[in-house]
Amino acid sequence: MGAKIARVSQGGSSESELKNLREAGRILKNGGTVVFPTETVYGLGANALSPDAAKKIYEAKGRPSDNPLIVHISRLDMLYEIAEDVGSDALMLVDAFWPGPLTMIFKKKDIVPLATTGGLDTVAVRMPSHKGALKLIEAAGVPIAAPSANISGRPSITKGRYLLDEFEGKVDMIILGEDSEIGIESTVVDMTEEIPLVLRPGKISQSDIFQVISTGDSQKLKFLEKKLEDISGRHCGKPARSPGMKYRHYSPKAKVILEGPQKSAEQVLNEAMSMVTEDGKLLYEEPEVMVLCLKKNEELYGDHAYVLGEDSEEVARNLFTSLRMMDDMGVKLIISEFFSGDELACAVMNRLVKASSNI
Ligand code: TXA
Ligand code: MG
Repeated sequence: MGAKIARVSQGGSSESELKNLREAGRILKNGGTVVFPTETVYGLGANALSPDAAKKIYEAKGRPSDNPLIVHISRLDMLYEIAEDVGSDALMLVDAFWPGPLTMIFKKKDIVPLATTGGLDTVAVRMPSHKGALKLIEAAGVPIAAPSANISGRPSITKGRYLLDEFEGKVDMIILGEDSEIGIESTVVDMTEEIPLVLRPGKISQSDIFQVISTGDSQKLKFLEKKLEDISGRHCGKPARSPGMKYRHYSPKAKVILEGPQKSAEQVLNEAMSMVTEDGKLLYEEPEVMVLCLKKNEELYGDHAYVLGEDSEEVARNLFTSLRMMDDMGVKLIISEFFSGDELACAVMNRLVKASSNI
């Protein structure tokens, strides 16, 4: 049977929206699955305290069961129900960034099943700022485990219409909202280390986190930065800390090549357009190659330009949908500019590097 489809806007307060959210809340409470909008990307939710419900998420996504889920909460008391050792740094980060795109990892309490945490004794927790998401969690009355709503290995989804192809028939309900405001997933920070350590970059950066917890004390800031240096050195070459990091990620059907220090996107484009097959035909037809770029560089690539925006915020917001649009358009080779200049651009590059590798 197909999923029930409902629409809920950011505000989510009309009578019909509230009715839909109550129904979705009931489904979640009873062990079902609901896809819902958040400010980062869409999430695929189920009751985080039920192993059977968590298993349904892994099934619907085709996700390896050792890749842990993020638990979404709507009130601070839910954090204390599921997490151990919530220290003063975490509370400062809560004050500064919740609700919002920050996920914190804590030691888990027994109430959180291993099926939700991929067998780990830690739990990742986030309070989203999307009002519809908060109301949904409230309606469910339980913390909601939700990875990004996409088939495992594919780009995350930030535009509702892509959910229907991927999840119709695989979940109980799909809530369509506006396009995701931020466009890339939350920053994941490990609070169980000696210092808060970013495992997955996002809109909130490692330095934003250090700024908050050093509370203007420049000695403390220096100490944190020195520790980070030591730890990054120590982690170099070690297995990935965040289990999700080892899997194939964000892959569109097209091949993705990134501009590098040796070769500009324009050079990669020119080379690609002159490549020939064994029998002497051009490898790519004109519309099969597109360049993801900043607005200011559009003219360099002529008809091959696909503008992501004018700045990092727009680039982040449009990134995942652009990868999926390329597939819709039958693009075979995506070339991307190297985005830089701020930490959000680094977070975008983190996704693009994964999209471009074959692991
Ligand atoms: O913005 C987001 O975080 C979105 C929305 C829906 O909230 N969710 C999301 O979930 O991106 P997902 O499952 O696609 O990514 C979660 C990441 C994975 O890399 C996972 O390995 C890591 O967080 N993670 C979760 N729990 C962890 C834990 N206990 N220890 C280390 N890493 C963890
Ligand atoms: Mg994901």
